Amino acid sequence: MQSSFDLVKDRQASLSAKWNKDAIKSICGSPDAKPFWVADMDFPVADTIAKKAQQLTEHAIFGYPFAPTQQELFCRWAKVWHHMEIQPEQVVTSQGVLNSIAVLLDMMTEVTDSVIVPFPAYQPFVAMVEQLQRPLIPWALNYDDKKHTFSLDWNTFESYCEKASVLIFCNPHNPSGLAFSEQELEKLCTIAKKYGVTIISDEIHADLSYIPHKSLLEFGAKTGAETVVCMAPSKTFNIAGEHYSVTLFNNLDLKKAYVKRLEQLFLTHTSTFATTLALAAYSEGETWLAGLVSYLQGNLSLVQETLQKRIPEIVLIKPEASFIAFLDCSALVPLIEKDQAAHPELYDPQQSPSGGLLSRFFGQRAKLAFNDGTWFGGDAYRGFVRINYGTQRSTIAEALQSMEDAVRYLHENY
Ligand SMILES: Cc1ncc(COP(=O)(O)O)c(C=O)c1O
Repeated sequence: MQSSFDLVKDRQASLSAKWNKDAIKSICGSPDAKPFWVADMDFPVADTIAKKAQQLTEHAIFGYPFAPTQQELFCRWAKVWHHMEIQPEQVVTSQGVLNSIAVLLDMMTEVTDSVIVPFPAYQPFVAMVEQLQRPLIPWALNYDDKKHTFSLDWNTFESYCEKASVLIFCNPHNPSGLAFSEQELEKLCTIAKKYGVTIISDEIHADLSYIPHKSLLEFGAKTGAETVVCMAPSKTFNIAGEHYSVTLFNNLDLKKAYVKRLEQLFLTHTSTFATTLALAAYSEGETWLAGLVSYLQGNLSLVQETLQKRIPEIVLIKPEASFIAFLDCSALVPLIEKDQAAHPELYDPQQSPSGGLLSRFFGQRAKLAFNDGTWFGGDAYRGFVRINYGTQRSTIAEALQSMEDAVRYLHENY
């Protein structure tokens, strides 16, 4: 049976960054590659959100918004979707999650204060720390290349905490898709508390968790570790271009300082459009979201089963949330290197400065655009690509066929 998520909608005529040919070329060298990269989905929003957007455009006046109940609405959402008890005074609304993290980092640290970031890392975290000129401590997740799973490396964490002021955590984690257990979160907070490390927890993918999500806010409160949590309706409801996020605090003095800093920088306001969509999402989005999460899990099963049966050289690192996943393609790297040596023009870094060996291979030989693993932390991840499976199942099936053909090409030629 077809679902509304199965309907293919052409996005090429829109301003979509994901579908922009120049942007696509920059990561894989091939402007005509189908995009499976930037983290937004190819699905129209829930009818309830679309209706609010239509009402607003029909009204056609886009003055400044005033929405005094938005903190309460978020608390309703947190309770309904996450069974999380939170009070409106703990919630600050602002623009994107990255804005919030950058303001927090800038406000809470001096240039000599080191910041821990788990690796592989969503690249803007690294860029942010570097641009704010704070020393970066990359905290590599353990990778088991037999089981194809990532996990936290406790051996190194404590020694890094001795030297650091802040940890930018990501739960569920982008790009590995890991969702952390209560035990892990409590341990993380206990160690952070011991060394006075503040944790900024980016939980932007939490609403899309396949297992019950636990927020670090709860474990911060339990252990006394300073924790700030960032969430947003953007990934969840596919409204990422309409910047709106919530920042959650246990420590109301820290919250006050954050609001003051936002005010100093004139960053407190969200747009009318973004606010309208976010409020529609948080007040009545759960039925649509339940359908979406189930559809995404169906896509994931298709990817996993097809890879296992038809392209065993590529292994899915099975995510526990959201619509992005790492694919371990390291078994193919020797063959792709031969292809690169035979056809260097296809792998020209000048044509795809934001790509790497694997994204160029898939761009040229399968006409698919994936984020190269190196984007998440350099050469250590050159055997991986990140796929965005937030798209129609028929599109995923076609992509898997193209991957199979590209891998066959390698075997036949090298
Ligand atoms: C972990 C994570 N944080 C933040 C963002 C961006 O959030 P925003 O657009 O609200 O700044 C993304 C987008 O992909 C993300 O994956």
